[in-house]
Amino acid sequence: MAGLIERYSDRLPFAAGDPIISLDEGSTPLLYACELSERLGVEVWLKIEGANPTGSFKDRGMTCAVSGAVRDGSTAVVCASTGNTAASAAAYAARAGITCAVIVPDGKIARGKLAQAVMHGARVIGLRGNFDEALRLVRELSANHPIALVNSVNPLRIEGQKTAAFELIEALGPERPLDALAIPVGNAGNITAYWKGFTESSDQLERLPRMLGFQAAGAAPLVLGHPVEQPETLASAIRIGDPARGEEALSAVAESGGAINSVTDEQILEAYSFLASRDGVFCEPSSAASVAGLIVHGVPEGVERIVCALTGHGLKDPETAIEVGGEIIACEPELAAVEAAVWG
Ligand code: F0G
Repeated sequence: MAGLIERYSDRLPFAAGDPIISLDEGSTPLLYACELSERLGVEVWLKIEGANPTGSFKDRGMTCAVSGAVRDGSTAVVCASTGNTAASAAAYAARAGITCAVIVPDGKIARGKLAQAVMHGARVIGLRGNFDEALRLVRELSANHPIALVNSVNPLRIEGQKTAAFELIEALGPERPLDALAIPVGNAGNITAYWKGFTESSDQLERLPRMLGFQAAGAAPLVLGHPVEQPETLASAIRIGDPARGEEALSAVAESGGAINSVTDEQILEAYSFLASRDGVFCEPSSAASVAGLIVHGVPEGVERIVCALTGHGLKDPETAIEVGGEIIACEPELAAVEAAVWG
């Protein structure tokens, strides 16, 4: 299967002969969620973005951002990250043979993401500060040095990520496209990208899905209407208090007739467990905010077919999973003990 830039060459800003840095991202499954559909009383589909090469949707944007950096002659890339952007940037930079530096809030990113960034050979910088401070610093850094910024403030990230919307329309068909998209919102790049992809696919606004964005209650600047100085949530990927693309996210919500709401950590964990134990899909806690949002706030009137963007794989954050999941049953290596353990 070809990577995104090849598949959508007519809709992405690359020309024949441009260098392409790809790990065969995209083409992720769109899975029908039997149990969740039953629970919500509507047709719910899951866009499994954890099936991307580094386990999150960031790869869609990163193939474009790193290809663009190489095309422009950059030999180094940098990003601020809550983890997934760092893992993805590190992998694509390794593939390109260029230097990568990632700045992450020290001690606040999930272990799997950290493991990826160090293994791909990035310089991993643990900032004694939060994501918003890290983003401010990398913006300044890239303005003053020849190092390409690959956060979603880079337009090529949005270009790459809009392809997820193209895939949804291809998969569901033009006859009966989706009525709504439920999506977690952090720095607000992804909701912006999906909306760009949808609007580029059709000029009939009324046929486009409503954008339903969800933030964690402790990090919900777009719901509150002002930045949050000290964002807090166990959904560490979306622990962001001042989203760079907040205005665009609010426009997407308004133009599509959608909404932006918040969910508590408890509600996120309930949805996270439900998806894993009932529908067999293990996503990371931040991703489950989209599902929690539908459970808590309900499905809007007139919406019959909905897609939840499950943005990252559950294995990214093994610590939360082990804390939330069931206990491990200790057992002696004897048949009777195993029988007792298996049947309780
Ligand atoms: N879900 C996951 C798993 C994420 O990693 C992120 C963002 C989001 C949702 C929110 O997407 O920022 O475009 O609104 N992660 C970034 C990072 C911030 O650094 O990995 P957004």
